[in-house]
Amino acid sequence: MSDHQVTVTVNGVEYEREVEARKLLIHFVRDDLDLTGSHIGCDTGNCGACSMIVNGTLVKSCMMLAVQADGATVETVEGLAEGDELTPLQQSFSEHHALQCGYCTPGMLISATALLRANPSPSEEEIRKALQGNICRCTGYWNIFEAVKAVAK
Ligand code: FES
Ligand code: FES
Repeated sequence: MSDHQVTVTVNGVEYEREVEARKLLIHFVRDDLDLTGSHIGCDTGNCGACSMIVNGTLVKSCMMLAVQADGATVETVEGLAEGDELTPLQQSFSEHHALQCGYCTPGMLISATALLRANPSPSEEEIRKALQGNICRCTGYWNIFEAVKAVAK
């Protein structure tokens, strides 16, 4: 099977790589770019652990091929903090103990970041709706909602 050349900007860094047409974006980012912050929880679009922001839109990166991201701008959890400086949302997750095993956390942070960009003052219902595509197997939803609520203006 022939590979395809793709150019993708991830967290502000441009990468050019050859990829198989069948390779998923999550596998490309984790395996080819070595950015392992985004997790794989299901590979079927259900858990949200692989969430990324692609061209400003929240996507589940296991539902997208790497070749579809050719020319795109991708944001992953690694791109949220500036150096050691956490975003207010990341800080709030820490302060509200909004993670247990942490497996869902990258996806939760990305989904909540996308929400707060689109709507800086979400209601509790809007927060719950925005995170409904993200599963926390530790069932730590309450603290996650509290963490997002705390940074909502
Ligand atoms: S790994 Fe993509 S939604 Fe679960
Ligand atoms: S903190 Fe463990 S899956 Fe959410």
